Amino acid sequence: MVILLLFLLITGLGSVINASPCSNCGDFEVPYPLSTNDDCGDKRYKIYCNNDSLEFLSATGTYYKILKIDTSANKLVIKPPNIFKHTCYSSDLIGGGLVLDESLPFNISTLNTVMLLNCSDNILQSPLNCSSNSICRQFEEKVEEGNGCMNTLCCHYLKDSVMNSHKIRLRVGSCTAYTCLVDFKPDEPFKKWNYGIELQWKPPN
Ligand SMILES: *[C@@H]1O[C@H](CO)[C@@H](O)[C@H](O)[C@H]1NC(C)=O
Ligand SMILES: *[C@@H]1O[C@H](CO)[C@@H](O)[C@H](O)[C@H]1NC(C)=O
Ligand SMILES: *[C@@H]1O[C@H](CO)[C@@H](O)[C@H](O)[C@H]1NC(C)=O
Ligand SMILES: *[C@@H]1O[C@H](CO)[C@@H](O)[C@H](O)[C@H]1NC(C)=O
Repeated sequence: MVILLLFLLITGLGSVINASPCSNCGDFEVPYPLSTNDDCGDKRYKIYCNNDSLEFLSATGTYYKILKIDTSANKLVIKPPNIFKHTCYSSDLIGGGLVLDESLPFNISTLNTVMLLNCSDNILQSPLNCSSNSICRQFEEKVEEGNGCMNTLCCHYLKDSVMNSHKIRLRVGSCTAYTCLVDFKPDEPFKKWNYGIELQWKPPN
């Protein structure tokens, strides 16, 4: 009986110790519950410390650099994939764009404005802003990274709660590139755009 109690006490303490935050990754703090290692954080909230850079892994095996973490809001911002020079292909096109593992506690927040680039006509059916004054035109004309997408159909939309919160979908024959802005305000000049994809996580209980 005493041994059993001792055992419970020790394993109980063990899980408290396991719940400690992970050590820094480069200059980046890794706040709980995010976990870069099996012996710290909460393993369900796995992220990666690659070469002193914090990264988020998608369901299709693409690593996205983490730009910002806001623990009190349970949110983090990842860097949108690069668009290959002189093309209109996002680096994650092969995996179908951004795809989150639905069994993990992360989803795409409702604060993201997505620009889809080099789209085919069939995309027009969906509730997107593909007009000639869509902000995606400014991205193509004024931002070097978007130059390769000029003179193709592009659209933008707010990724709100009616959208799939685990995907930003790309496909050859649909749209082949995208970028994303966090907390975009209409009329905000392109020089002030805040590039990123905001994810949120379900708090551990
Ligand atoms: C790691 O980062 C250093 C410094 O930024 C860089 O020189 C090196 O190529 C990187 N290594 C890998 C494997 O990315
Ligand atoms: C499309 O977006 C532009 C830029 O934000 C806006 O001025 C325009 O009113 C939007 N058009 C539609 C049909 O929502
Ligand atoms: C746009 O997408 C089509 C396929 O949907 C592809 O053939 C074409 O090369 C792409 N354009 C650019 C500039 O990447
Ligand atoms: C995304 O996750 C948050 C936190 O768990 C949750 O409150 C929200 O409803 C989720 N959004 C969608 C669209 O499922």
